[in-house]
Amino acid sequence: MDIHSFRCLFCVLSLAALEGFSCSLTVHDNFLKPLDSLIISREAGEAHSKFSLRKPTLPDDDICYIVTGKPETLHYCNFNSTAKTFLVIHGWTVSGLFESWVAKLVAALYDREKDANVVVVDWLDKAHDHYGVAAHNTQEVGQEVGLFIDWIEEATNIPLEKIHLIGYSLGAHVAGIAGSHASNKVGRITGLDPAGPDFEGVHAHRRLSPDDAHFVDVLHTFSGGTLGLSIGIEQPLGHVDIYPNGGSFQPGCNLRGALENMAYYGLLAMSDAIKCEHERSIHLFIDSLLNGAEASKAYSCGSSTMFERGVCLRCPKNHCNNVGYDAKRVRKARSVKMFTKTRASMPFKVHHYQLKIHFTSQMNQPEANPIITTSLYGSNGDAKDLYLNVNRKISTNTTHSFLLVTEVNIGELLLLKLKLERSSSLLDMTWPWWKSDTPELQVQKISIWIGETQKRMVFCSKDLHKTNLHHEVIFVKCKNTGRRSFKRQKYRGQ
Ligand SMILES: *[C@@H]1O[C@H](CO)[C@@H](O)[C@H](O)[C@H]1NC(C)=O
Ligand SMILES: *[C@@H]1O[C@H](CO)[C@@H](O)[C@H](O)[C@H]1NC(C)=O
Repeated sequence: MDIHSFRCLFCVLSLAALEGFSCSLTVHDNFLKPLDSLIISREAGEAHSKFSLRKPTLPDDDICYIVTGKPETLHYCNFNSTAKTFLVIHGWTVSGLFESWVAKLVAALYDREKDANVVVVDWLDKAHDHYGVAAHNTQEVGQEVGLFIDWIEEATNIPLEKIHLIGYSLGAHVAGIAGSHASNKVGRITGLDPAGPDFEGVHAHRRLSPDDAHFVDVLHTFSGGTLGLSIGIEQPLGHVDIYPNGGSFQPGCNLRGALENMAYYGLLAMSDAIKCEHERSIHLFIDSLLNGAEASKAYSCGSSTMFERGVCLRCPKNHCNNVGYDAKRVRKARSVKMFTKTRASMPFKVHHYQLKIHFTSQMNQPEANPIITTSLYGSNGDAKDLYLNVNRKISTNTTHSFLLVTEVNIGELLLLKLKLERSSSLLDMTWPWWKSDTPELQVQKISIWIGETQKRMVFCSKDLHKTNLHHEVIFVKCKNTGRRSFKRQKYRGQ
């Protein structure tokens, strides 16, 4: 897809999402106009960003603006110059109005930091435009925000370490540009699904980058060019870049379903799904503010595919971090890519398990793509009939690693069940394996690594004669933890 049709799709979908527009040719036309002419025609009507200090009791209302160069406004608005200061920066807008997440984020920030100054940066005038123009405006708006930061530092002596910019979509790049233009570095910038179109691959000066603050953390929820669609940026931009659920296809958004049923449900369902994916970054951040004690953990990993195999759940040094507000600072020059799974709604936290399973068989059998369900029983609760994400060929006499997540905290794992599912007769046809009278896929021992507790456990089949997954096999903690058997085994397909 070329950049024009890409932008066009972006615009059309977002328009449909926000205002229930139907696609029209004018939208397309507008997109294909040379950008320069659009920018010049708007340069005249100069609009300045506004800085609204919101109140904990009225998170939705703009009642007091702090104006650069007017120190009395700090006093009128009760700016607390020793408290943490957040600048919340919105993204592109089609309606020209604040979206509903703004008040939710403001309220969540005050919920966590009672004395804080939560300032909403209003650049709606410059964000309410053709996407390409709004993207271009991030430079100018970022500079304005940078000047505001310089002035507030001078006027109040607030340590810049206490300033935290939080930008969504295009607002993430505004934050980055503000950070790089401020004379001194601010403490932190959080990018919430920073916009991709016009920013992917451009020079660090023109987008959010690790140079823009002492700590830059980013959540990517709709990146990865899923089927040619990507609203969020894919490349890492900060010190820590977290890709929940691989950075696309957020649970509960049903983008896949919307894509598959586009002809039936139309663009509207599709754009709802897209908005859901993009905005998920904000709700994950809000969740981290409200449920700080139960922070979700993210794990550094080479790729999403590796993470899906459960091989990245170990946490030496900086290999793990908290998702959202409680992210720990790291100061590596190179960005760390991290992954996590989430639930479909708040609280988003899940518990991550790596299962290392050694499959044995007496017979030499063809490799198969089995469907295996697992049930975990713990001291606090159970998680039953979870599908093991196999997604690849399983061959016998080898150890395979899987990622399994539970939505509930089951406490200490006490018992585990494994079973081969073969409900569909179609499956029997495609997998001759199960045609034989004595299907062969046996498991005697499972090694488990728990991401959240960083603990290892080894489970053995309860009955040595009942290890065939054709029937449900029950595993309990091994009596003598046979460490050796798992020590140096070769994994297939890692
Ligand atoms: C200002 O913030 C500090 C915390 O940084 C707090 O201790 C103090 O009470 C606040 N002052 C006012 C007037 O709210
Ligand atoms: C798997 O290993 C077992 C024991 O080491 C052996 O008896 C069996 O023949 C092997 N199966 C295959 C298919 O290689």
